[in-house]
Amino acid sequence: MKKINVSLKEDPYSILIGSSIISGLNDEINKLKLYENILIVMDGNVAKYHSAKIKEVFKNSGKKIKYYNLKPGETSKSYKELNNIYSFLLENGYGRDTLLIAIGGGVTGDLAGYAAATYMRGIQLIHIPTTLLAAVDSAIGGKTGINFQKKKNMVGAFYQPRLVVIDTVFFKTLQRKEQTSGIGEIIKYGYLADKTFFSYLNDNVTKIYDGNEKVIEEVIIKSAGIKAAVVSQDEKETGIRKILNLGHTFAHGLETDLNFKVKHGEAVIAGVVAALYLSADLGLLNKDKLDDYLSLPLKIKMPRIFQKFNTKNVLQAMLHDKKNRNGKIKFVLPAEIGKMILDVEASKNAVISSLQKVTEVLNY
Ligand code: GLY
Repeated sequence: MKKINVSLKEDPYSILIGSSIISGLNDEINKLKLYENILIVMDGNVAKYHSAKIKEVFKNSGKKIKYYNLKPGETSKSYKELNNIYSFLLENGYGRDTLLIAIGGGVTGDLAGYAAATYMRGIQLIHIPTTLLAAVDSAIGGKTGINFQKKKNMVGAFYQPRLVVIDTVFFKTLQRKEQTSGIGEIIKYGYLADKTFFSYLNDNVTKIYDGNEKVIEEVIIKSAGIKAAVVSQDEKETGIRKILNLGHTFAHGLETDLNFKVKHGEAVIAGVVAALYLSADLGLLNKDKLDDYLSLPLKIKMPRIFQKFNTKNVLQAMLHDKKNRNGKIKFVLPAEIGKMILDVEASKNAVISSLQKVTEVLNY
């Protein structure tokens, strides 16, 4: 089992990564002396495939364990569902001495994380991601929240978990689209750190689809390590944490225009491609490097819906991104691998021309 530390001054915690490590969860809770009144939040799909395994973990533990099941899907990231969790907690006598365990993908982690952040001004939280995307991104770093008025993550809080347990066994039952979504975020990390990881991904990223455990574990360890290091330096995203948004401004615009019919990580792949073109166009990325840098996202087969977005509508959606300042879109653009330029502004024409390139070059 691999252990990565998120070295925050106030709330440091560990990320445990390995195969079948969920069986040791009760021991980890005891080691950390966490509360024994536990609410486990999962969606219906996770419950269907994994609840027997999870129940086994707490058999004979002597702890108070209850389960709260969500409807799978983005619509659960709502005030209504948050309200239901509060009611469940209250009606079942959970007080401040509660440990909430969120087992699932980004929706479950964000919603249950926000419930933990706010119920009785904050209860203990553990994240157990069951998707690749949640493992390398949303379960780490304390971003929690719900959607509001059809806008994603409009209400939320930074709230760090006590522990993150990444059990690679969960990733065996993922559908291809879900794998691609995780790969989108993993590809993003390929530009944030070093050339060695970039070329490792170039050689191995498609092996994730074959269920290659060694590759899956390696990319999670590296990606989670990059995210942990960034978050440790800038928990609340006032500076360097912005690099984690590489490709995301374009991605959010694309997701909005395509009515969220694409997975987040798929949109990140397209967003990274757009960011590379924009960076080259603005002279931040040397044009000689462009083809080399494009080789990684273009390895991934993308849904044809990416040929159907409307560039002007995507731009409009990007103009409403909550990361904008003074009505200006701020981009994270790569100058080299390991060197991102933050808060770059670009003309509308330059943005539109990068989006047009995306439609043409993606691998369908
Ligand atoms: N998903 C980007 C971040 O956690 O900062």
